[in-house]
Parts: sequence; structure tokens; C-alpha cells
Amino acid sequence: MTDAAVLVVGGSSGLGLEVARHYAGSGRRVVVTSRDADRAADAAAAVGGDTTGIALDLAEPDRIAAGLADVGPVGHLVVSAIDRDENTVRDYDIGGATQLTTLKLVGYTEVVHALLDRMGDDSSVVLFGGLAKSRPYPGSTTVTTVNGGITSLVRTLAVELAPIRINALHPAVVGDSPYWMDKPPSVLDALRSRTPIGRLVSMADIVHATVFLLENRAVTGANLDVDGGWLLV
Ligand SMILES: NC(=O)c1ccc[n+]([C@@H]2O[C@H](COP(=O)([O-])OP(=O)(O)OC[C@H]3O[C@@H](n4cnc5c(N)ncnc54)[C@H](OP(=O)(O)O)[C@@H]3O)[C@@H](O)[C@H]2O)c1
Repeated sequence: MTDAAVLVVGGSSGLGLEVARHYAGSGRRVVVTSRDADRAADAAAAVGGDTTGIALDLAEPDRIAAGLADVGPVGHLVVSAIDRDENTVRDYDIGGATQLTTLKLVGYTEVVHALLDRMGDDSSVVLFGGLAKSRPYPGSTTVTTVNGGITSLVRTLAVELAPIRINALHPAVVGDSPYWMDKPPSVLDALRSRTPIGRLVSMADIVHATVFLLENRAVTGANLDVDGGWLLV
């Protein structure tokens, strides 16, 4: 399916946008999504090449299939969407927890389900989790829970959908991503000092790992931590 698209759900910003840029730059047909049609179109224009943008809200899973109706054959699917929920069990915000849990577990799964009729045996999927699955921090109750859910989700999907390959990528703090790049230097320096490679993970590191998971024809059901050794210390 060499003419099949690379679809990046959550490709209007951050890591998804960089993955879209990589594949557009190598001549692939790319589709990026945002919750908003204008932002999706702007992102597609910024990515360039043969890229289009569509609107899709994973927190409304009943509407995902209709939102993806015009997407043709899909060779590589990346789902990186996130709407962060800062939450604790002592001061539990049910609305935020429900929104993120729906987005990242039901929404991610429904995207794969809705596209199955447009995937071939050689298609591949990368779902984004995050290192909070293994290392909670104050306020990460929902984030830790859903990223833990991603670790199991890829295992069952890899079995159910074989030979389609399904993997998960779990970044640590990505220092040059939009979410982190403007944080106070003291915060970033503290994180850097705890990272064995001596620097924070970069967006280029994440794109490289995503491409590996999408294209290596033997890897499926894997949970790849891209963390500069953070979990070792
Ligand atoms: N950045 C990091 O350091 C880091 C670390 C660990 C894990 N991660 C994981 O890596 C992934 C990408 O993170 P990022 O920092 O690159 O994200 P980001 O820059 O915040 O981008 C988030 C993307 O998700 C989309 N989105 C938000 N709410 C959505 C919804 N309800 N339905 C569909 N799309 C929605 C946004 O689109 P619009 O706003 O245009 O709608 C945007 O395209 C996430 O899954 C995150 O958990 C990132």
C-alpha cells in the first residue's frame, strides 16, 4: 500500500506535527487532524507536500467514524492526541478525568476500529502513551492511568489485528516540544540533571523512534520507552 496515507491523529501540534513533517518530506500522502477544521488546514499547509487536514474530536467517540469517512487507504497510523488533565484522587475532577479517559482509551481504540476497512496486512499503528505510566507525578492521576492503559491496549490490539502491527511509544519529557519548551529553566535543568544521557529527549528522537516502530516489520505489541534512561535512575 505504498500510495496509502500516513494519518496523524493529533498532527496539528507537537510530536504528531513533527511525524507528519517527516513523512510529507519523504513524499508520502499525509493527513493530519485537529479538533478544529481551520487549525487542521493550517497545520496541513505548514507541513506542506501532499498533506490535508481534517477535524476530529476523540472525546466524542461516536462521531469518529463519520469524521474519518473521507480518509482513503491508510498505511501508517499515528495517534498522538492529548488534552491534558491535571488531577489527583484526593481532589478528583470527574469531568477532566472522563474527558481524557474517553479521548485516550475509547477514542484511540475507535480510531483504529473505524479505519480497519482501509488498512492492509502491511499497515502499522503507533499509539502514544507517556512515561507517566511508570513514574507518576503530582497531578498525574488520569495521565498515569490512561498511559498505563495504552500499554495493555497495544498488546491486545496486536493480537486481535495481526498481521497489522500495533506498537506504543512512551516519551519522557520532550524538551523542545511546545508543551515543555517554555517551562522555567530551573524546571528543565532539574529534569535534565536526572536524565542519564545528559540532555532531555528531543522531538527528533521521538520522530526517529516512531518511524522505527511504524516501519520495522518484526516489531508488534511493543511498548517503547524513549526516555534517555530516565526510568533507570
Ligand atoms: N510532549 C511531551 O513531552 C510528552 C511527554 C510524554 C508523553 N507525551 C505524549 O505524546 C503525545 C503528543 O504530545 P504533544 O506534547 O506533542 O501534544 P500537543 O502538542 O499538546 O498536541 C496535542 C494534539 O492533540 C490534539 N487534540 C487535543 N485534544 C483533542 C481531542 N479531544 N481530540 C482529538 N485531538 C485532540 C491537538 O489538536 P488541536 O488542539 O488542534 O485540536 C494536538 O494536535 C501525547 O499523547 C502525549 O501524552 C508527550
